[in-house]
Amino acid sequence: MVLDRHMKSPFRKPCADYNRAAFAASIERFRRLHPGAPLILDSCCGVGESSVALARAFPDHYVIGVDQSASRLQRGRRGQRDGRAWPDNLDLVRADLVDYWRLLLDAGIHLARHYLLYPNPWPKIGHLRRRWHGHPVFPAVIALGGVLECRSNWSIYIAEHCLAVEQLSGREALAEPYLADLPITPFERKYRDSGHCLFRAVVDLA
Ligand SMILES: C[S@@+](CC[C@H](N)C(=O)[O-])C[C@H]1O[C@@H](n2cnc3c(N)ncnc32)[C@H](O)[C@@H]1O
Repeated sequence: MVLDRHMKSPFRKPCADYNRAAFAASIERFRRLHPGAPLILDSCCGVGESSVALARAFPDHYVIGVDQSASRLQRGRRGQRDGRAWPDNLDLVRADLVDYWRLLLDAGIHLARHYLLYPNPWPKIGHLRRRWHGHPVFPAVIALGGVLECRSNWSIYIAEHCLAVEQLSGREALAEPYLADLPITPFERKYRDSGHCLFRAVVDLA
């Protein structure tokens, strides 16, 4: 029912000026520094540890990590002390994704890969609309395309995510257990170290 409503009525909340400015500056950097490179979006990147890992794993792609928390992003930039150079195909951006995703779509930008790693679960029943797949912005996430990967320690979150992806895209999305031998985010490391089972769904929306 929630998804039906989101499919039928476009989400029209105006985008905030600070998100427009952050979006415009990040796309200007992307086009100036790596024109034409396939784009990877690391949504809810937190301190950006996964963004760094993705930039190193996909050196011919450009990675934008987006998080709304300036302090997490700052901590990430400062904490990058493994002695390796900061990847030049990486940008970390402070913005609210509810706007950033729609601005990408309005600009006609499509993704090669899209990561949503350990989003806030909002586990209470009344919180469904706060989970990304229950939020009215989710059709924009699907329309951005690419290989969409979501990971969580909450199997219900991934099961719901798969249902929403299937309903909006017509593509089959399967939930699977995920073993994080080499964790790429602080939450992934924390969950693995405390013995949580992890789950993920990967779907090609191209
Ligand atoms: C549970 S943390 C996971 C961070 C990181 N992916 C990890 O695994 O360590 C969720 C992150 O989502 C970010 N976030 C939540 N809502 C957001 C929004 N509307 N726009 C941008 N970031 C958001 C929070 O600031 C937080 O850093």
